[in-house]
Amino acid sequence: MNYTVVLPAAGSGKRMKADKNKLLLELFGKPIFLYTLEVFQRDPNCDAIWLAVKEHERELIEDYVTRYNITKVQGYAAGGMERQDSVRACLEAIPPCGVVLVHDAARPFIDREVIERLVKTAQASGAAIAGVPVKDTIKKVENGIISETVDRNQLWMIQTPQAFRYSLILKAAQAAHNDGFMGTDEAMLVERLNYPVAIVESTYENIKMTTPDDLIYGKAILESRLQEEQK
Ligand code: C5P
Repeated sequence: MNYTVVLPAAGSGKRMKADKNKLLLELFGKPIFLYTLEVFQRDPNCDAIWLAVKEHERELIEDYVTRYNITKVQGYAAGGMERQDSVRACLEAIPPCGVVLVHDAARPFIDREVIERLVKTAQASGAAIAGVPVKDTIKKVENGIISETVDRNQLWMIQTPQAFRYSLILKAAQAAHNDGFMGTDEAMLVERLNYPVAIVESTYENIKMTTPDDLIYGKAILESRLQEEQK
């Protein structure tokens, strides 16, 4: 089941405490976003890759794409102020297709099998997002005091990829823009149209490289995968 992937890559390095786009930070000599690109380059079901990038980083990113032979990149869109703007710019730039996957370029450890289940589910039902059940006890805190312990049985931590029929996510992204609505993920934009969104269980390794400690986890994940390959 084929799909097009949209990768927002136009963020900064603020929470990573880096003085540049965190995606350009290297893990074992290779920038983070290239690990993400390679997942989709290798997936035979991925037809095309589109990236949202900052204008001043475009040349640098294009150079990497060429150097690492990422031949599926079909185009770039100008990244916006917020992630949601970057994703919308990409969605408006891509040619119409069946299923679109939106995936943070900052999540390099996504599993191919999870992608496959997401695409299948989105093709059948319109919208499917990756997530994992919450492991810790979750409490609501007000003014430093616990106000509620939330039943975690129904709680999931949401990740990307988020997969949608192309027409649905384009409509949802444009509606949010016209209404001045800012969500924290693409699913929220679809949910507000009262469209059901399915969850697909992902892996705890699919972390978003966000803060400096994630670089430590990222290296550990890469090392353990390398050891697995060598077995
Ligand atoms: O900042 P955060 O880690 O939540 O960003 C998630 C993804 O969205 C990253 O891959 C980042 O490069 C991208 N992004 C973007 N445009 C923005 C902000 C973030 O493409 N304005």
